[in-house]
This record gives sequence, structure tokens and C-alpha cells, in this order.
Amino acid sequence: MAERTRPVALITGGTRGIGRAIADVLAVDHRLLIGGRDRERCAEVAAGYPDAVGWPADVTDGAAVSAAVEGIERLDVLVHSAGVAEGTVVSDTPREAWKRVLETNVVAVADLTRLLLPALRAAGGQVVLINSGASMRPVPGSSVYAASKAALTSFGDALREEERGRVRVCSVHPGRVDTDMQIELQARKGRAYDPSEHLRPESIAAAVRLAVDASPEAMLESMVIRPAFG
Ligand SMILES: NC(=O)c1ccc[n+]([C@@H]2O[C@H](COP(=O)([O-])OP(=O)(O)OC[C@H]3O[C@@H](n4cnc5c(N)ncnc54)[C@H](OP(=O)(O)O)[C@@H]3O)[C@@H](O)[C@H]2O)c1
Repeated sequence: MAERTRPVALITGGTRGIGRAIADVLAVDHRLLIGGRDRERCAEVAAGYPDAVGWPADVTDGAAVSAAVEGIERLDVLVHSAGVAEGTVVSDTPREAWKRVLETNVVAVADLTRLLLPALRAAGGQVVLINSGASMRPVPGSSVYAASKAALTSFGDALREEERGRVRVCSVHPGRVDTDMQIELQARKGRAYDPSEHLRPESIAAAVRLAVDASPEAMLESMVIRPAFG
């Protein structure tokens, strides 16, 4: 495929975990913008693909994000994978933790989407929200994270209807996935970590690929992916 005809995908959180696995499956036929906080790390990951560049920006930094979207006039796929978790119970969760998680998982997603909507509309593009099963099944110690992901569900549902016929919107709800996020969460809880008890990031990436490959008149609106083994 000639380079100029390649669709373009921006993946926030593309440096690690689920976002990195999504980059692997989209790199086959997309030009990639690899999002992350560290410029060198973004460039290093991008260098591993045939047609990719780094897209360094802390998504909670409005000025940095506004500068980073400059020049993006057409965008076929916007994957929001950057996210943070907080494994504390309500009684131990200070205001600052609520702000940090909601800012990253909700406010930053909404603002980046707003800035890129003209480019997405120009391409008849798609927004993919990496949400979580926690949005539907909160457990003790997940209040902040689950609340942020439930808000993300509502954001996606509203955006989908606002943009129907122009931009497709898919919410992907994985169960626990073998990434740094789970390793850190379980270490904080003092639990032993077993990767085999988790989904593989590649499995989430395969679902995202399915949404991206949907025929033009079809939209995969929501996908729930849970471990098959309990
Ligand atoms: N792992 C799970 O069990 C699981 C389950 C369901 C849903 N999810 C969701 O899947 C998404 C990806 O999670 P993951 O497990 O892949 O996490 P991860 O391995 O911890 O990776 C997080 C990614 O987000 C980026 N990021 C975090 N804060 C950022 C910020 N302020 N600005 C820019 N980038 C930022 C990180 O970039 P840096 O390289 O700069 O740190 C990194 O690329 C998240 O939205 C998460 O909520 C995860």
C-alpha cells in the first residue's frame, strides 16, 4: 500500500500494555502515532514499526495536547488506551486521587476527542475507547477506577449518537489483562501475580482490529472481553 493512502491511527498509551498490542495489529496497514508521556520512549516504540512516529504528550496537560494535535487534519482511528487505576477503598481515597483518575480516564479523553473530531469527521473515522469490565461490575477497592470507566461509558454512548453517520464509536470492556497496570495493582494489594490468570493484551488488540475492520455501514458499538477460564 502506498504510504500516502494509508489510514492514520493515533493510539494514546501506545508505549505499553494494551495500547502497544493495538499498535502491533494496526501497524500492518496504518500509519501510527504512538502516544505516551516520554518523548524518547514514544520514538523508540515508533521505530519498531514500518510507518510510525511518536506522539508524546501527557494527556492531562491541556496545553501539551493542544500543541500535539496541530497539523492532524485527517484521522481514521483514535484509540484512547492511556489510563490509570487506583486500588484504594473509598475510606482511604483522598480528593487528589479522584481528580487524578477522573482527569486521565475521562476529562483527557473527552478533550482530546473534541480536538480531533474535525479530523475524524474528515476521514469518516472511528473512536475506540479502552474501557473496562469494572464499569459494569465494580468490586471493593475499585470505586475511583470503576466510576471513571462508568463515566467513560456514558461519554462514549453520547458521542456515538452525536456523531452517528459521521464518526463511529466503539467501547471495549476488557476484564483483567496481563500488563504493568495489573502487576502494580496486585503488588499494592500484596497478592502474588500470575500472568496466566489474565487475558493477553493481544486478545484485546484483536477485538479492536475487529471494530476497525467493520464494513462501512456497520459499527461495533460495545465489546465485553472476559477471561474464558473464570
Ligand atoms: N490491565 C488491565 O487489567 C485492564 C483491564 C481493563 C481495562 N484496562 C484499560 O486499558 C487501558 C490500558 O491499560 P494497560 O493495562 O495497558 O496499562 P499500562 O500497562 O499501565 O499502560 C498505560 C499506558 O497509558 C499511558 N499513560 C498513562 N497515563 C498517561 C498520561 N497522563 N498521559 C499519557 N499517557 C499516559 C502510559 O504511558 P507512559 O509510557 O507514558 O507511562 C502507558 O502507555 C487503560 O485505559 C486501562 O484502564 C486495563
